[in-house]
Amino acid sequence: MPTARLTIDPHFTVGAINRRLFGSFVEHLGRCVYDGIYEPGHPTADAEGFRQDVIDLVKELGVSAIRYPGGNFVSGFRWEDSVGPRDERPTRLDLAWHSTETNQVGLHEFSSWLGKVGSELMLAVNLGTRGPLEALDLLEYSNIRSGTTLSNQRIANGRTDAFGVSMWCLGNEMDGPWQLGHRSADDYGRLASQTAKAMRQLDPSVELVVCGSSSAHMPTFGEWERVVLTHPYDDVDYISCHAYYEEKDGDLGSFLASAVDMDHFIESVVATADHVKAVNGSDKTINISFDEWNVWYLSRHQNLEVITGIDNWPTAPRLLEDVYSVADAVVFGSLMISLLKHADRVTSASLAQLVNVIAPIMTEPGGPAWKQSTFFPFALTSKLATGSALEVRLESDTYDTEVYGTVPLVDAVATHDADAGTASVFLVNRSQTEDVTVEINVAALGGRTGGGVAVVDAQTLSDTDVYAANTLEAPDRVGLVQNSSVVTGDGVISVTLPPVSWTALSLA
Ligand code: AHR
Repeated sequence: MPTARLTIDPHFTVGAINRRLFGSFVEHLGRCVYDGIYEPGHPTADAEGFRQDVIDLVKELGVSAIRYPGGNFVSGFRWEDSVGPRDERPTRLDLAWHSTETNQVGLHEFSSWLGKVGSELMLAVNLGTRGPLEALDLLEYSNIRSGTTLSNQRIANGRTDAFGVSMWCLGNEMDGPWQLGHRSADDYGRLASQTAKAMRQLDPSVELVVCGSSSAHMPTFGEWERVVLTHPYDDVDYISCHAYYEEKDGDLGSFLASAVDMDHFIESVVATADHVKAVNGSDKTINISFDEWNVWYLSRHQNLEVITGIDNWPTAPRLLEDVYSVADAVVFGSLMISLLKHADRVTSASLAQLVNVIAPIMTEPGGPAWKQSTFFPFALTSKLATGSALEVRLESDTYDTEVYGTVPLVDAVATHDADAGTASVFLVNRSQTEDVTVEINVAALGGRTGGGVAVVDAQTLSDTDVYAANTLEAPDRVGLVQNSSVVTGDGVISVTLPPVSWTALSLA
């Protein structure tokens, strides 16, 4: 049986875990908003038309900040369409997803929904078909208390307090040829710089995210980051990363190693940002907002789900409704391990997306809401990963992959919350055939012998059918199970990880 060893020592700190690492993303796309979070007439709908069953699941998921309203959608969006009396809001074509946008949910409604789920608002401005002036208007509408035309308009529209939005994305995926208003790195860098400076003149407290690459596999990756950051380096706080993974051509071994690619992506962007920092002679460090990440069967979507036709602009069509298997959730959990391993520089992240669209939560109109397999690693990591992320000095057997070469069978990260007196370990076993027993040295956590350390809980996601999934017909087919293999003693905890599995240990 393959083995792995790791050490948990509170001195091996990577960095404090920012709660924003457990963010998500709601885009006006498919059924994420309409028939997702919002369905007036649903048996659980509240007075504002929001589904209470979805609210409850989002709360259970433990989502910190939510990026809104796109995504590709934002590059054609006029924010002022989505405020004011609902019956006067225009109906528009959404060019990004070839859909109709009714604007029945906008800034006020979404902010109210965020209050119900207890999450922070993270807004994106349109730098595809618009520019600094419209970004300033939205910022004034959102963050100025009163006394100007736009802030008074917000008050007249029913919101007395400013929205007080801190995090702002300067456009979306501007490196992508599919993006409305796609630009060169130099053009976008200048526009982002002008917009950032203007926004800071209005509200110096805003935290700004400049667009990095929409994938590490874009032909411009690396150079895009360098050129873009050269313009607004001192005016922005974050550069974004986006990454989606899928199993291709039945190559499960490579797919299970997707986090190796994510690790490399993050480290490359950090290196590039720090290069620009050195060249600029700046003492400011740019961190990463990994504001789109997930498993997404994008190649399937490109083949099957393209809506076309001059007279065919459906409202809330079923788009990107991927059904996630156990294997997908194991990869998903390993992507969260990658984010935590880089908690010193990845200080914000958004799971793309939240409901129905490549989402951990699915709904049926008039019917139930249920958890996809990916719900489980997100919810448990968000709950347990508090305090600081720790490097674990992992030693593991390896295996060979087509895409990423030789990679470790096991990946892991630990967290330590000194104030709460707790720690946690997140582990993934990428072997498709074998259990792996992992020995965890906890001597440094509980005194010389580690005798003070107790395993409070051990939960594993795995299945004899790695492609098993939850569906409308079988909403509880997959989920977490208690891992009963844990043995503690003499400063060492041992746990056995089944093939293709994700595990979380909670220690006190
Ligand atoms: O999350 C789905 C889409 O993926 C987003 O709209 C876009 O930013 C990305 O390409």
